[in-house]
Amino acid sequence: MDKPDYLRHEALIEWVVEIAELCKPDRVHWCDGSEEENRAICKGLVESGTFIPLDPVKRPNSYLCRSDPGDVARVEDRTFICSRRKVEAGPTNNWRDPKEMKSVIHGLFVGCMRGRTMYVIPFSMGPVGSPFSHIGVEITDSGYVVANMRIMTRMGRAVLEELGTEGEFVPCVHSVGAPLVPGQKDVAWPCNTEKKYIIHFPEEREIWSYGSGYGGNALLGKKCFALRIASVLAREQGWLAEHMLILGVESPEGEKTYVAAAFPSACGKTNFAMLIPPASFKGWKVTTVGDDIAWLKPGKDGQVYGINPEAGYFGVAPGTSEKSNPNAMATIRANTIFTNVALTPDGDVWWEGMTKKAPVGLIDWQGRTWSPELGTPAAHPNARFTAPARQCPSIDPDWEKPEGVPIKAFVFGGRRSTVYPLVYQSFNWTYGVYLAATLGSETTAASTSNVGQVRRDPFAMLPFCGYHMAAYFNNWLRFGRNIMNPPRIFGVNWFRKDKDGNYIWPGFGENIRVLKWIVERANNHAKGIESPIGWMPRYKDLNWEGLEGFGEERFAELMTVDRDAWMSEILSHEELFMKLYDRLPKELIFIRELTISSLWRAPEHWEFSEVSMEPTED
Ligand code: OXD
Ligand code: MN
Repeated sequence: MDKPDYLRHEALIEWVVEIAELCKPDRVHWCDGSEEENRAICKGLVESGTFIPLDPVKRPNSYLCRSDPGDVARVEDRTFICSRRKVEAGPTNNWRDPKEMKSVIHGLFVGCMRGRTMYVIPFSMGPVGSPFSHIGVEITDSGYVVANMRIMTRMGRAVLEELGTEGEFVPCVHSVGAPLVPGQKDVAWPCNTEKKYIIHFPEEREIWSYGSGYGGNALLGKKCFALRIASVLAREQGWLAEHMLILGVESPEGEKTYVAAAFPSACGKTNFAMLIPPASFKGWKVTTVGDDIAWLKPGKDGQVYGINPEAGYFGVAPGTSEKSNPNAMATIRANTIFTNVALTPDGDVWWEGMTKKAPVGLIDWQGRTWSPELGTPAAHPNARFTAPARQCPSIDPDWEKPEGVPIKAFVFGGRRSTVYPLVYQSFNWTYGVYLAATLGSETTAASTSNVGQVRRDPFAMLPFCGYHMAAYFNNWLRFGRNIMNPPRIFGVNWFRKDKDGNYIWPGFGENIRVLKWIVERANNHAKGIESPIGWMPRYKDLNWEGLEGFGEERFAELMTVDRDAWMSEILSHEELFMKLYDRLPKELIFIRELTISSLWRAPEHWEFSEVSMEPTED
């Protein structure tokens, strides 16, 4: 096996030799992360038909890739947490006995890389050398994974050098599960159509992934490492690994406040992370630190600091447009990998929602001639772009700061057409943990046939927590006790609808109006009044300049707290609590009781007009 001369880590070499003996690839390649290496890998992918080069003027250095139609998303039902004891994984994860799973793995991986190259990718989640960062090494037989990991993580020589002779790393093994017999021609998207396994050993800190080449199933630094394994590390070491974006808000006076926000899928997380305030909101600016994952630690000064452990965006393409997210559109102008989008006749990309009208002569995500009359989407609903974070025009100047950025507020939001108001602030940390633990979102057409049903997604972490969800709530409560000035916790809902089924709130750039109140509250200089569920802004506490047709009545419709609706909501929180009862922190049960009593003491339809209370400062 050829190995780089700067590699001095015996345990790593031993492990790579062991995996090569198991998987039996034709050759082993240690990735150095260089330009030259990337060019060679992309050239190979073009030759094998996996990559289609896009027009060099319209999308310089960019490629289109089409996956197998059966390998288009994360496979939650094939994702396993193999802790020694089932109770450690908790009732919301698929648990398997680690011994049994090891023997399954052996069966799957023996000879699984025959006829292929085995790549060794040393990668750092977080800037190389930052006290926040953790290193992983992904072994994969997919060149597509190498090209994506180079965008999504810091990868290559610098990471091996940082590892030194005995640095710690998380071993991650990935195979598409499609060995080639001599002379067999490869397909453009090799994968295993029958067997898929995404396996985590939280105690040993190991990841094994088999059968899929797509996204979170295959780019193991993202959901598998930075969330499932990192959440376990975080609990042991007293920090938080979260499914959160981080953004910075700068006021006209130059006050900068960082906010971390969690939303379940299909709630516009990337759009929010890259928000552009409307022109009428003069002097306000939003900057982007991350769009998907945040690692948060207490600093020496007692504040919370956070980093984005990733180096790129793996964003959902459909719905992204110059209108919904001009920053994302600029980010993907070049050096981007597009997966499962449509191809235009002039060598560019297109997806539903990019423009009102589809260009003529499209080729759809499966390589077929497409026209709107077909009634099928031209791009797959989960089509993605992989683009370097540094290309984002709103990237925060401190996004790679090794010590992270100070977080002043946490925001949690789901897609709820009823019940939840536009914005409210938790009375304290424990209320905030309750708010986040009971987060729910209505399912959308893309994910299930039961459209409109509320799926509980605590902290937007349901598919990503590597251990018992109730123990995770406890980690949050403990974290709050160990910081001096805990960030304020807010709930938002961009998706409330009126009686006619129309969204009340315009969303997108207008969300800055809510964000302004949030950061001012977090900095102790905005007014709010006490509602049964938390602090809320009155109409006059938000800035309405430039937003036509949004009067006090419309605002009251957005903000009303209705007792009956909340009572059935709280009953469904109870369902989650029952499921997690063995480890559920008692605090959450008491907060639920307190909320019920406040709702009974308040008017049945709590509205601003009924409130005579004087505003208070928190
Ligand atoms: C993602 C997800 O891809 O949350 O970020 O599914
Ligand atoms: Mn995500």
